[in-house]
Amino acid sequence: MQTYIADIAAHVGQQVTLRGWLHNRRSSGKIHFLIVRDGSGFIQAVVSKAAVGDEAFGRADHLSQETSLSVTGTVRADTRAKGGYELDVHTFEVHGDSHDYPITPKEHGVDYLMDRRHLWIRAERQAAILRVRHEVINAVRDYFNGRGFILCDTPIFTPAACEGTTTLFPVQYFDDTTAYLTQSGQLYNEANAMALGKVYCFGPTFRAEKSKTRRHLTEFWMVEPEMAYAGLDDIIELAEGLLTSVVARVLDTRKAELAVLERDTSKLEAVTGHFPRLRYDEAAKILQDKGLPFQYGTDLGGTDETVLSEQFDKPLCVTHYPSDIKAFYMKPDPERPEQALCVDVLAPEGYGEIIGGGVRLDDYDLLLERIKAHDLPQDAFEWYLDLRRYGTVPHGGFGMGIERCVAWICKLDHVRETIPYPRMLYRLYP
Ligand code: 4AD
Ligand code: MG
Repeated sequence: MQTYIADIAAHVGQQVTLRGWLHNRRSSGKIHFLIVRDGSGFIQAVVSKAAVGDEAFGRADHLSQETSLSVTGTVRADTRAKGGYELDVHTFEVHGDSHDYPITPKEHGVDYLMDRRHLWIRAERQAAILRVRHEVINAVRDYFNGRGFILCDTPIFTPAACEGTTTLFPVQYFDDTTAYLTQSGQLYNEANAMALGKVYCFGPTFRAEKSKTRRHLTEFWMVEPEMAYAGLDDIIELAEGLLTSVVARVLDTRKAELAVLERDTSKLEAVTGHFPRLRYDEAAKILQDKGLPFQYGTDLGGTDETVLSEQFDKPLCVTHYPSDIKAFYMKPDPERPEQALCVDVLAPEGYGEIIGGGVRLDDYDLLLERIKAHDLPQDAFEWYLDLRRYGTVPHGGFGMGIERCVAWICKLDHVRETIPYPRMLYRLYP
């Protein structure tokens, strides 16, 4: 019977066939130990001369890393085995040889591995990260779907900037038009929220950011909820609910992967309930008191975010940034108009911003003024201004970058390992 390693527990004492690849092999005279992986997991398959015969035993001695093969044998529970089970092999069949597999168990540099990303994802750690990513994405969808949000996809080809004109990727759009790859679905989300109340979009996002930090990709996946009739507290509560529910899901269903990654899960278990909040002014004071070279009125840098988030064991909500350093669509605080009704959520353990959002400018005149002040092409924004012409309401939402969220949950040094094929300033291959 053909089965997957993930389902092996149901077959103790039975004969099964596993189809996969040889991850590793060691031999001790009369026995070969094959570590087989099939995508769903890893298992040790024990090949003895007595069970398979001389000829097959000899062949098993020449199997090399990443040879694809089927192994048939009896499943045995073994508390000493990683995963709890082993396979006593009766027969095996090779499907495809693999000679000189370039990624060996020795240490390789990151550039070497990134050039071979299409193979590197077979490694146990990399596969564990991609499984966590899958779970994060499912948890995000379930969270919004379970709360009456309608998934409403937004376009990838767009006529104008959403998050500043300096990070746009232009594309030739037929003969005489330039389109830009989307930086955020937010503007369309706002229209969708006026039609459907609570919506979200979830797709690839592009930023021509010439940043070489551990937090930046040029192509990343962002989930963006948007709600009609929402204020800053509603938005922050939604962000808290989302993060606590995503973290709880990964802790519940991806223990094995977190163990492979040697993740200290007690840090994730602390992510419950409400999160601490700081206004930008208070955050600035903390940074200055700590002697950091932070200039009041500027955006928080990576180091500033790291220092702030390290003070708390839960994600930290920083609100009320100066309007000047935020996007054109942010609504000013009526009590302090020089500040925006916005929130950035900084992940603990020094991971920095994983969510950015806030209340949108719902006043027609002020929005038009901002569009002009930011030198944005008014034509391209007429439809967006329509939302303020026809039944404007207070509304808002946020965007969460999946890769930054996964990097934090897995405690990785860099976002490049959280996505199958990262796109970065100097990386477009494979
Ligand atoms: O803070 P950002 O730029 O906000 C927006 O795009 C809003 N329009 C979202 C909204 O309110 N609907 O981006 C939101 C999140 C960041 O907090 C971060 O997690 C992620 O997107 N992000 C990136 N992730 C990887 N690489 C990059 N270059 C990123 N830029 C933003
Ligand atoms: Mg931001």
